[in-house]
Amino acid sequence: MEIDVLTLFPEWFGWFDEQRHVRNAAEAGHRVRTFNPRDYTTTTARQVDDTPYGGGAGMVLRVDVMEQALRGVYAEDPVDLRTHRRVIALTPGGRVLDDAYVDELAAEEEGITLLCGRYEGFDERIVQHFCSDTLSIGRYVLAGGELAAMVVCDAVLRKLPGTLGHADSAVEESFSVALDGDPEYPHYTRPAEHRGWKVPDVLLSGHHAEIDGWRRARSRERGDAGSRLGRDG
Ligand code: ADE
Repeated sequence: MEIDVLTLFPEWFGWFDEQRHVRNAAEAGHRVRTFNPRDYTTTTARQVDDTPYGGGAGMVLRVDVMEQALRGVYAEDPVDLRTHRRVIALTPGGRVLDDAYVDELAAEEEGITLLCGRYEGFDERIVQHFCSDTLSIGRYVLAGGELAAMVVCDAVLRKLPGTLGHADSAVEESFSVALDGDPEYPHYTRPAEHRGWKVPDVLLSGHHAEIDGWRRARSRERGDAGSRLGRDG
């Protein structure tokens, strides 16, 4: 799997690339590559954005700059690129990321491309003509798409074989198909009792079928209750 990120701030990803699961992913053959559109532009003073037509605050990423960057990376007209590759504009109003969307992206064998907006975002023609998707990590506005891109990379990479330590850890986790989309069941470890708070007996029983049944029931309860936590001790 290859995840390409087009960003005006590639240095932000230095820290991300150093993290253990991302390094594991790289060793397993998956790659996160960053490209700076500024390196591809032929505009005066390598300008990548401009003021919005019609007036208003902020700056907008230019369609010609994004075209040059995508052509530079893929040696192809970006209008054709999006017919065979997921090219995704990161924007607060896009399709909201959830586990099913992450699964969809992780299954893209050719790889995916993430375009990070800055300032007021993209010239709409970038989205209309070069992108297959718009993706939001939630209904709030970040200063740019970089943190959103890292969220997508993290969520996708951990689904891929070789990234997590234990082969099963991404199978039976919150919102997975194995849990019918419910949140994960509670976990406990030593000590078996702390301040009188005991680990449920069933987990100490060694009866795997009962443990599975208990976990499934707790998971379903959490799904029904949303993610509210009781605050009574
Ligand atoms: N860019 C700015 N805010 C964003 C968000 N919430 N999701 C994705 N990209 C963004």
